[in-house]
Amino acid sequence: METLDCILKRRSIRRFTDELIPQAVLERILKAGFNAPSAHRLHPLDYIIVTEKERLNGLADLLTYGRPLREAQCAICVVGDHDKQEHFDFLCQDAAASMQNMALMATDAGCASVWIGVSQSYPNIVDVENYLGLPKNIKSLGILALGYPAVDKEANDRYDIHKIHHESWSK
Ligand SMILES: Cc1cc2nc3c(=O)[nH]c(=O)nc-3n(C[C@H](O)[C@H](O)[C@H](O)COP(=O)(O)O)c2cc1C
Repeated sequence: METLDCILKRRSIRRFTDELIPQAVLERILKAGFNAPSAHRLHPLDYIIVTEKERLNGLADLLTYGRPLREAQCAICVVGDHDKQEHFDFLCQDAAASMQNMALMATDAGCASVWIGVSQSYPNIVDVENYLGLPKNIKSLGILALGYPAVDKEANDRYDIHKIHHESWSK
């Protein structure tokens, strides 16, 4: 698929069919995630793959906007080592780049995905991190819910010339 077509085609899909994601497809999605850029070339991320229904539902129970996990065939939980990358904003940015690479690879492979946000400001973040069995230095940064789409969404183009500035904010 042409890159821009893939970017526009990727939409957040929250309803999934019962079809499992083949291992080879999951590996391609992960490969895309691993090969995102990383601040200071530290590559501080790990990936926890959740496929058991009970575990997916347990995660959904902990996340206010995590309902799509109940139908997902798989969740890729992106976690990062705060000891390796001490700047937390860079840890988040690494995770975001990786998440987006995976979402695009999923789209290209005919899968659907939705990014489930995980914020350190969630009052129950400790519960989420305990659920994933994370040691203290490993932070939960985002979850990609994956499956095959049970609904269709149109490709979307939000390009807006009014939001483009030249040289500084005022121009
Ligand atoms: C950081 C981040 C957190 C998000 N968290 C959630 C979430 O918890 N649950 C959800 O259903 N969608 C979540 N989304 C998906 C957004 O709602 C979605 O990207 C937005 O509505 C734009 O729609 P689109 O992805 O189809 O273009 C999140 C997206 C981002 C980037």
